[in-house]
Amino acid sequence: MGPLYFAFVILAYFILSTHADVDYKMIGSNMVLQRNSDKTKLWGKVDASFKSAVLLRITHTASKKDDEYKVTASEDGNWVVKLKPYPEGGPYDITVYTSRTTTYSNVMFGDVFFCSGQSNMDFSVLNSKDGEKDKQDSINYPNLRLIHIKPDSNEQVLDNISDGIWQVSSPDSIGGYWTGGFSAVCYYYGRELYQHFNGTVPIGLIESAWGGTRVEAWVSEQGINACRKKASVRTGSKSHNQNSRLYNAMVAPVFNYNILGVLWYQGENNAGDTPFMADFECYLGNLVSSWRRGWGIEYLPFMIVQLANWKSGTNWPVIRAAQERVASSKNVVLATCVDIGDPKEVHPADKKPLSHRLFLNALKVVYNYKDIVTSGASLTNITADASGKVEKITLTFNTKHSLKVRGTSGCTSCCNNANFNAFQVLTDQKRFAWDAETVIKNNQVIIQTPIGDEEFVIQVRYAWYESPECMLYDGDELFPVLPFSVDI
Ligand SMILES: *[C@@H]1O[C@H](CO)[C@@H](O)[C@H](O)[C@H]1NC(C)=O
Ligand SMILES: *[C@@H]1O[C@H](CO)[C@@H](O)[C@H](O)[C@H]1NC(C)=O
Ligand SMILES: *[C@@H]1O[C@H](CO)[C@@H](O)[C@H](O)[C@H]1NC(C)=O
Repeated sequence: MGPLYFAFVILAYFILSTHADVDYKMIGSNMVLQRNSDKTKLWGKVDASFKSAVLLRITHTASKKDDEYKVTASEDGNWVVKLKPYPEGGPYDITVYTSRTTTYSNVMFGDVFFCSGQSNMDFSVLNSKDGEKDKQDSINYPNLRLIHIKPDSNEQVLDNISDGIWQVSSPDSIGGYWTGGFSAVCYYYGRELYQHFNGTVPIGLIESAWGGTRVEAWVSEQGINACRKKASVRTGSKSHNQNSRLYNAMVAPVFNYNILGVLWYQGENNAGDTPFMADFECYLGNLVSSWRRGWGIEYLPFMIVQLANWKSGTNWPVIRAAQERVASSKNVVLATCVDIGDPKEVHPADKKPLSHRLFLNALKVVYNYKDIVTSGASLTNITADASGKVEKITLTFNTKHSLKVRGTSGCTSCCNNANFNAFQVLTDQKRFAWDAETVIKNNQVIIQTPIGDEEFVIQVRYAWYESPECMLYDGDELFPVLPFSVDI
């Protein structure tokens, strides 16, 4: 063994020991920590040989007021500090004293959201309508902060994201990072909240999304197993799309980072496989429960996007219905995109109408504003009355206003009140009738359909198409009646 070897060993020892205390990538300068919460934590890892207490100092930069926290690391070197609740504001410097001194600067307290899903969540500001203008405008929101988690997958549950850096909203942070830049849906949502609070509440946005991914990849192993009895397990898809792999690498490492809510936009990739359709609802429900368990927040608000109108969206009505059912549980809400997509494009370029609906949902479910409307009228009663060669179906909706029919975005043969084909009826002789005469009378829709002898209607469908052209709206015309298929 020559001197070179020893030099190498010494060098290696030196490198290892100076890097013994490590950071978790979620923690950094410019981050927004969740305000007004006793669940907000900071965490790190020291070398196991470091036996003293870890000291943390949180200093309000302007007033120099500070708080100190002391904690002893566990055997494996990990430490976690639970912070006292802080109101919105800052900036703060956070200094961590271990065998080294690390300072995170320009840290704010505010509200933090986790934005996840597949390509429509990943779809960047730059690719979206008016993206270039919004990129330049991004400089105006200094307390809007973004972290874009680098796509990664793993067979094991990880405690550290592979990469990602908290950044102040700016043309660089909007346009930079991976996969074409930061999420448009997430950004516009955050920007609208930020503006709503007149810039007084810092907003932190975490994007963790991957195009073309399946819901199973985002569900914990426990969540998958809970579905397994009912559902068959899909094999043979891309490795990152295997069960739990994105949950492991892109969600679980964020669980220590306290958040206020989740935005979820996914489902397109599951619609493709007809034999597995029934599994989707179970997986989505377990995604919600496994993430809530992970974050330790029993009713963590979830805002689920319902799939957009798209002509080639085979099975999309079934996915939409599953999304609506999952969104009927406590603190899970639905922001429908079924009337504001683009029939010719799986990735609608105009994300702002959808982000606005997510924003309204947040006011309701996250901020508990009263009197916020986030949905249209819904069906409350259905009666059927056959006489002779005609069966009359009367659908009643819970609105005080008169229903209206309106074309969806990008519709090609837009409808009017006198003539629209949003409704289909199925008879016991398995005939879907398109020739039903449909009229609106105040809060009711009356369908009259020709029937044969001994034939009767067994099912009524509304907007049950890949890309509905006509939809019913309430008086304010903000939200459509959601698509449905009901048995009579
Ligand atoms: C987290 O990942 C980063 C690099 O991506 C690494 O530098 C750091 O040491 C990791 N931290 C832990 C605790 O493993
Ligand atoms: C923001 O400012 C406007 C105009 O001053 C005010 O009406 C509104 O209440 C403010 N919003 C909030 C959430 O404080
Ligand atoms: C449903 O509508 C029919 C006809 O309009 C009415 O007779 C019946 O009472 C309604 N049922 C409910 C539960 O509202």
